Amino acid sequence: MSAAPLLKVKDLKLSYGGIAAVKGIDFHIHSGELVTLIGANGAGKTTTLKVIAGLLKPSSGSIHFLESAIGGRPAYELAELGIGLVPEGRGVFARMTILENLQMGAYIRQGTYPAESIEQDLKAVFETFPRLRERLPQLAGTLSGGEQQMVAIARAMMAKPKLLLLDEPSMGLAPIMVETIFGVIQNLNQQGITILLVEQNARLALSMADRAYVLESGAIALSGSADELLNDDRVREAYLGVDVKTSGA
Ligand SMILES: Nc1ncnc2c1ncn2[C@@H]1O[C@H](COP(=O)(O)OP(=O)(O)OP(=O)(O)O)[C@@H](O)[C@H]1O
Ligand SMILES: [Mg+2]
Repeated sequence: MSAAPLLKVKDLKLSYGGIAAVKGIDFHIHSGELVTLIGANGAGKTTTLKVIAGLLKPSSGSIHFLESAIGGRPAYELAELGIGLVPEGRGVFARMTILENLQMGAYIRQGTYPAESIEQDLKAVFETFPRLRERLPQLAGTLSGGEQQMVAIARAMMAKPKLLLLDEPSMGLAPIMVETIFGVIQNLNQQGITILLVEQNARLALSMADRAYVLESGAIALSGSADELLNDDRVREAYLGVDVKTSGA
């Protein structure tokens, strides 16, 4: 691919107080790609997403989005530029209804889009998540975990992101709901939304992604096409639970 990447991260570092959580990482995502970032607990995945979304300021390094330097810019500006985050643990507004949560997602577009386009996007969201339409007046805090994940993704969709950052969307969900959510993620990617997916479920993430990065203790330990990493012995052993010595494959 010759075009400049949609997102380019260079030598990014972030420390909490004196403790380095992200230690100089480089990665990029091209427009239209689905890229996954995998790694163990505490590897720095959430920190990386929060920095890209503007919720944390990088200690050093650069981030370019649409060829502009965005490192350190506040989250609301980045949301307007087209970076959407579905945070770890979902972060729905528990005391608001489903409809109010979705309207909050569209908030940054008020004034720039006609009201009808927001109505149309609500319709599109309900086609993706029919279950939400049935429960519009329900308070989001009373929804099941999987339903809250749907609200979190739907709310991010309402902001019309170009790049969607998803932090562990499968966490705590039953297998059937994981399948539904991953089906939706794949579908959003096919509709042209570029996706950076953070997942503990490495097998599932790699089975869907174009490319992947492995984060270990705040550094990129491995990268490649998702197929390459699915067949890499280190990945198989550490992240896919395969006993490489005895599996014979
Ligand atoms: N607010 C904070 N203050 C201090 N240290 C933090 C803070 N947030 C995260 N850390 C530390 O930074 C490191 C990276 O955390 P991060 O949440 O990015 O990991 P992660 O890869 O998302 O892990 P998990 O898979 O468990 O969600 C961890 O050692 C964590 O304890
Ligand atoms: Mg995390």
